[in-house]
Amino acid sequence: MKLFLSLLSSATAVSSVLGAVLDKRANPKGIDVSAYQPSVDWATVKANGVSFAYIKATEGTTYTNAYFSSQYTGATNAALIRGAYHFAHPDSSSGATQATYFLAHGGGWSSDGITLPGALDIEYNPSGAECYGLSASAMVSWIKDFSNTYHSKTGVYPVIYTTTDWWTTCTGNSAAFGSTNPLWLAHFASSIGTTPAGWSYATFWQYADSGTNPGDQDEFNGSMAGLQAIAKG
Ligand SMILES: *[C@@H]1O[C@H](CO)[C@@H](O)[C@H](O)[C@H]1NC(C)=O
Repeated sequence: MKLFLSLLSSATAVSSVLGAVLDKRANPKGIDVSAYQPSVDWATVKANGVSFAYIKATEGTTYTNAYFSSQYTGATNAALIRGAYHFAHPDSSSGATQATYFLAHGGGWSSDGITLPGALDIEYNPSGAECYGLSASAMVSWIKDFSNTYHSKTGVYPVIYTTTDWWTTCTGNSAAFGSTNPLWLAHFASSIGTTPAGWSYATFWQYADSGTNPGDQDEFNGSMAGLQAIAKG
């Protein structure tokens, strides 16, 4: 009986150590929100253990999220690390034009330790050809134009949000961004799956489109100190 109990308690200890190692929730948690979440209770989000947020700022050169300011201010006041994202419309204007529009409407960056680099949301066309009618090489050039423009104005490269499936189809699985742009990969599953060419890991993982907190559910792949370092540049 005594032996049995001690085996039981060491088995429990081993499984809780393994649990901590394997539990993705040990990484800093985040959310991303848009106009679909007009009033976020940021204090509750923070109390639930969320550390960071991405907030939709712009789309193409014709759309700004009407709730951006209040969401961004709310996240700031709740002491979250936060940043903005831009939904790309590569068929409507150049990457440089859209980066400039994003920067003018909330997408800026400074090395204040609480601002994440702006993110380029590049993915399935919501209304039309999956790749917006661009060839893979034209798509890579468009992303480079956006990324280089953002970098020249802020000093940091934008985060790239995508899925492995879209990236493979629409950029020909380009490896051109892995050494410069942090990857934010969407994959709604219990593990992140294959990353696109050029990246050996994802910096951010969007693992669900709903959950305890408003918006999509994300995590940072690293420690809190690592997250703060990205916000520092
Ligand atoms: C997190 O990053 C490490 C490298 O720092 C990598 O080995 C691991 O696969 C990454 N995990 C995810 C879920 O991307």
